[in-house]
Parts: sequence; C-alpha cells; structure tokens
Amino acid sequence: DWKMEDVMNEEIKVIQGTLGPDDHVICALSGGVDSTVAATLVHKAIGDRLHCIFVDNGLLRYKERERVMDTFEKHLHLPVTCVDATEQFLSKLKGVMDPEMKRKIIGREFICIFDEFAQELEQKLGKEPAYLVQGTLYPDVIESCPPPGSGRNHSHTIKSHHNVGGLPKDMKLKLIEPLKLLFKDEVRALGKILNVPEGFLKRHPFPGPGLAVRVLGDVTEGNALDILRMVDEIFIQSIKDAGLYDSIWQAFAVFLPIKSVGVQGDQRTHSHVVALRAVTSQDGMTADWYNFEHKFLDDVARKICNSVRGVNRVVQDITSKPPSTIEWE
Ligand code: XMP
Repeated sequence: DWKMEDVMNEEIKVIQGTLGPDDHVICALSGGVDSTVAATLVHKAIGDRLHCIFVDNGLLRYKERERVMDTFEKHLHLPVTCVDATEQFLSKLKGVMDPEMKRKIIGREFICIFDEFAQELEQKLGKEPAYLVQGTLYPDVIESCPPPGSGRNHSHTIKSHHNVGGLPKDMKLKLIEPLKLLFKDEVRALGKILNVPEGFLKRHPFPGPGLAVRVLGDVTEGNALDILRMVDEIFIQSIKDAGLYDSIWQAFAVFLPIKSVGVQGDQRTHSHVVALRAVTSQDGMTADWYNFEHKFLDDVARKICNSVRGVNRVVQDITSKPPSTIEWE
C-alpha cells in the first residue's frame, strides 16, 4: 500500500522532528487497534525511548491480558509494563450501580495508575517523560468538537466515552497523536504495514470501561464477571468458527442481574440469565441487530447452558440503535 507507506514515513519524520533527542514518551495501551498502531508507529520512530503501560483492571475478557501481552511482546516487541490492578478497580466499583458512575470511577483509577507509572519512570530515567501518545482518530476529533453546520450532534454527552478531553487538566505531558488525521480503515492499513497481526487489527471495538458496562448493576456481585467471560468466549468463538466475525461490527454477551427458573437434568434450577448482542454498523453511531441462523443460535445457547455453571437461560437482543445503544449501560 503505497499511500500508507508514505503516511507512515511522513509520520515517523514528524515524530522524530517534534521530539528532542533525549525526550521520553509514554503510552497507555488498551489492547485496541488504535493505541496499538499508534504505539507501534512511535516505537518505530524512537525505539526504546517509548514506554508503554497495559493495565489489567479486572474487567477484561477471557484470557485477554495474556493474549494482548503476547502480541505486544512477542510479535511487536513493544516495551510494555503490565500492571495488575484488578483489586484496586473492583474494590472501588463494589456496590456501584450507576453506569456513568462506573465510568467515572474507572477513569479516575486509571489516571492514578498512569500517574504512578510516570513517576516511577521519572525516577528511573532521572527526568520526566515529555510526551504522551494517544490513538486519537479523525472521527474522535470531529465528534468532540463538531465543526459548525456539520450536522454531527453532541453525541458524546450521551455517554462519557471519549478519549479527547478525558485527561487531567494539570497534565504536563505534551500529546503526540499520530493517527489524528486517519479514519479507522486507514489505521488498519497502517497497522498492516507495521506488522500488527491481521487478527488483531480486525478485533471488534471494546469499550474502555470493559465488562463493567456489560455486567448490569454491581460488577462485583457473585461471580458475574467470570460467568460473563465464559459466556462471551463461547459466543465469540462460535461466531469465528462460523466465519461470521468479520461481517459483524460488535458481538458480546451481557450479564443480567436476574435469575430465572430452569430445569437441568432432573433438577429445578434458579440461575442466571445472559443476553447475546451482535450488531452491524459503519461507525457505531447507528447499528442494526444481526440476524443469526436458527441453528447457530440453538447451538450457542445449548453450549452456554451446558458448559457455564450458573446459567440456565440465554436471550438475544433484537433491538437496533436507535432506540437502544450498542452497549447495555
Ligand atoms: P453505544 O453503547 O453508545 O456505543 O451505542 C457506541 C460505541 O462506543 C463504545 N462504547 C464505549 N467506548 N468507552 C469506550 O471507550 C465507553 O465508555 C463506551 N461506551 C460505549 C461501544 O462499545 C460501541 O462501539
């Protein structure tokens, strides 16, 4: 891809030209496409003056930490510190029911951990890191600050989920946003020439607050997170096996805070209900629910109830956006 090679070389030159020769840079990797591509690009430009952090907040999917760390380290050779902050996040989320409050708490904890990382780095290097890499894309820029008459509404006030403006006000770090002029498909093309694995580039979007917005209500209740991880993994793996993953914008399971009656073996059960959600979309702003074949749904529901203890009922979400949102919280 010629055009993307040019974009890559141009960006590398800009990064090298912006930074002083001893400037160090930090980057928070989310495990998503954007931060990964941004970090890989910066790494190519400045090597080990880049320092990445990946935070396991206890709200990740099945084996996600292992899987993304493997890609970062073995495949992309990125310098990454992995922080297990599960307890820190979950203790703050205990008893919290309100979705926006969950997002605020998660955002706040994340900034604390990030600050600590920057301070430790400063001690190690004997100087402060100067820059922060952000995987901001062009649509994030226009959505946060819609050009007049663009017809784009202030959708970011519906859910507080944008990277832009979510940073501490007193932050001394300067920003590097190497993807700021690119759309998602361009970022994928850039990732491809940067050797980011194809499967990684095609991953469905995953919200920053992670499974916290997919366990309705208190995320620390019982073993909700573990149940959700197993159900989600079965659903996603079945979608991949059926060759449907790339035709779907996002697919995931949701843990509902209710129990229903079932019969398993000869036993009456009173167990959890999970919901499956899959949608097609261009940009996440609107979405259509995805219509699986009967046999596919039947197989998935059976597999879930047979292999996940504590679940006796599976329902499918058949609403589009609008009137629903893609996530349930
Ligand atoms: P909704 O649920 O608003 O989601 O229709 C639209 C897209 O945004 C993702 N989403 C989030 N992403 N932090 C994020 O980084 C969030 O708090 C958040 N909430 C929703 C959602 O997964 C979908 O892709």
